[in-house]
Amino acid sequence: MVFLQTLTEASQDLRAGKCIVMPTETVYGLAADATNDHAVAQIFAIKERPTFNPLIVHVATIEAARTLVEFNPIADKLAKHFWPGPLTLVLPKLSNSPLSYLVSAGLDTIAIRIPAHPVTRELLQIVGKPLAAPSANRSNTLSPTCAEDVRLSLGHATPHVIDAGPCAVGIESTILDLSHAKPLILRPGGIEAEKLIPLLGPVLYASEEHSIKAPGMMKRHYAPQTPLRLNAVHKQPGELMLGFGRAPLSDLNLSPTENLSEAAANLFRMLRELDARNAQRIAVMSIPMTGLGVAINDRLQRAAT
Ligand code: TXA
Ligand code: MG
Repeated sequence: MVFLQTLTEASQDLRAGKCIVMPTETVYGLAADATNDHAVAQIFAIKERPTFNPLIVHVATIEAARTLVEFNPIADKLAKHFWPGPLTLVLPKLSNSPLSYLVSAGLDTIAIRIPAHPVTRELLQIVGKPLAAPSANRSNTLSPTCAEDVRLSLGHATPHVIDAGPCAVGIESTILDLSHAKPLILRPGGIEAEKLIPLLGPVLYASEEHSIKAPGMMKRHYAPQTPLRLNAVHKQPGELMLGFGRAPLSDLNLSPTENLSEAAANLFRMLRELDARNAQRIAVMSIPMTGLGVAINDRLQRAAT
């Protein structure tokens, strides 16, 4: 339970140009007023994030989004259908948009979404400003799915945290680039491609060359310290095993019933937990490449690179 006082204090910090940590349905975000250069610069400093890696803007309403980016009919349709929720749309930035240039790292597009978490939505309403927020972890480490993960990752640099318990989705938003003729998935995430296809027709995944546009998609990104071995069938000496489905010998299990939503929600927490046990290697059983399995496999592959 998050008290109104906490939200009011967080809102005061944000208006004063400070960063705070906010929950979202996907992962915890390190938020700042997206119209304030100094505030946005602090996000990069706290995360030790390269400034060429742009940030996602979070807003409370579609109307607020329309004051920042240029919508087209497809964006309209998707926003009405999936917002609030874990779908980020990349759209052309409006020339009179008040957003800090640091947010888009100089690109002429903006990545934007309405998060589904009730606490975040209330905070956005109270602040009345768009909030830039990357995942609240140090650059190149696993995204935090609870307040404790944030503190462990950011350490002394951790600003005020709104603790609303674990994140329901547990994996970052799907990023869909609608700034070109053909819609392109830049990052698989919380909204499965299967749900986009009925509204969009066939969608393409960004190739590695395209991914330069989403620098956060550099191959090694979501990484624990311990090496990973993917598609493992048996546990080898020195290994800890992350199971999926029936796997009595696994040390932790993403979902004994093969439920992909449960597996996504558990993924980062269990990787962190196994990472902390300092084994030689973590063996991960194979996850089907359907639905949320695409996003889970994407994060696992990056972590294993
Ligand atoms: O679920 C999420 O998306 C979480 C929560 C906090 O909203 N946020 C998140 O942010 O995962 P971050 O910064 O960790 O990842 C954002 C990704 C990066 O890979 C970045 O390169 C890409 O979005 N991105 C941001 N703006 C972009 C743009 N204009 N064009 C292409 N990619 C962009
Ligand atoms: Mg991140």
